[in-house]
Amino acid sequence: MNEQVNSGELASAEVVGQSGLPLSELVSDRRVHSSVYTDQAIFDLEMDRIFTKTWVYIGHESEVPKKGDFRLRKIGRQPVIMVRDKDGKINVMMNRCLHRGAIVAEVEAGNTKFFRCWYHGWTYDTTGKLVQVTADEGYEPGFCEKKGGLARPPLVDDYRGFVFACLDENAAPLDKHLGQAADLLNYLIDASPTGKIRLDAGVNKTSYRGNWKLVGMDGYHVNYVHASVVQGWSENSDSGIAAMHKNDPFSDEALTRTRDLGNGHVLLDFREHRMAAIDKYLEFLRGAPGGEKYVEDMIAAYGEEQAKKNMSLAGDPHLGVFPNLQVIGNQVRIMNPISAGETEVLMFPVMFEGVPDELNTLRLRQHESFYGPSSAGSPDDAEIFERAQQGMRATVNPWVDISRGLHREEVDADGTIVGKISDETTQRGQIRAWRKLMTGG
Ligand code: FES
Ligand SMILES: [Fe+2]
Repeated sequence: MNEQVNSGELASAEVVGQSGLPLSELVSDRRVHSSVYTDQAIFDLEMDRIFTKTWVYIGHESEVPKKGDFRLRKIGRQPVIMVRDKDGKINVMMNRCLHRGAIVAEVEAGNTKFFRCWYHGWTYDTTGKLVQVTADEGYEPGFCEKKGGLARPPLVDDYRGFVFACLDENAAPLDKHLGQAADLLNYLIDASPTGKIRLDAGVNKTSYRGNWKLVGMDGYHVNYVHASVVQGWSENSDSGIAAMHKNDPFSDEALTRTRDLGNGHVLLDFREHRMAAIDKYLEFLRGAPGGEKYVEDMIAAYGEEQAKKNMSLAGDPHLGVFPNLQVIGNQVRIMNPISAGETEVLMFPVMFEGVPDELNTLRLRQHESFYGPSSAGSPDDAEIFERAQQGMRATVNPWVDISRGLHREEVDADGTIVGKISDETTQRGQIRAWRKLMTGG
């Protein structure tokens, strides 16, 4: 990092990595330099300027339902623990021993009363407090009290059970950061008649040899990468997905849209499209196992009009929350950047609370059919991300084009930028947030 950056001033003229170009010239509304995806020096800077500067999704409260339940997560490359403490409060703490820095928890999930560091045995309770050091005659009296406890991210907050943390104490509050993305999260949460969801159906994990930013929100690729699946949907009118995909939602003639919600949050917007066919969809739902009761309970909970709206997206807002969260299909997804050329993806199927088990089973089967390890959907995305990463190694004309629909997108009444479903409004929205965080302007 150069001196200018060390002094705290981010300059858009700063050159990082092998492109030889200033950071601000690597991205525009029309194109992105492939080094933004392939250069490890840029990746290292992203960890510093994006993942330590903005809110990062950690996990959902339902993943730690009991006192002592914990999950290991990451903020960029930094290890954290999300734990429900002995008083029932959820804490996010850095997974780093106060002694010589070892992680104090190494299994990714569990239930415990204490975290005991394996290196020299220092022990912390679930609030992070250092409660014991081994062979304590080697320390002055009152040592534990003086050391305090595991460090914490300066900012931790949640939106209706979605827990986020931020390493920059001067960042804007979470609700401001989320903005309209919060309204879209409601489409998932309020698709449950109790307004409660559970991420307790396990997780399927995958990784691909490609950059973390390749997991975009892309309405353009579906009819090509997933051509066989799209054909299957349209032919199998018994499946719930088919009922939702009538009239090719990925056609630019459809009522579907792409949206840039600001701050890098983006949306494939199916709201109008689904509401136009809501009665047909409810008919399908009523015929599904557990569906009749679900529809009735939703109407009782929210009133008919609002219930229809809440059910229209089937709990799938198709939302990207920059930088590491997506709510898509029947899942909450975390992207973990590993290196410029490697990304880990965690997919948590979402269960609704207060619905017949059969309905949640159906949701799980739907998730598996597109996103499971042997499914016909998500593995194709991973494959195409790897091909993109391979192709971008060619540096003669190193530009990636993201200009689709730039000439026809508009600012909507709600202030969001809106394009047709195949337009790269979403890619531009994400890269604008990237540029702002990376260059400070
Ligand atoms: S590093 Fe944890 S006890 Fe020594
Ligand atoms: Fe895809």
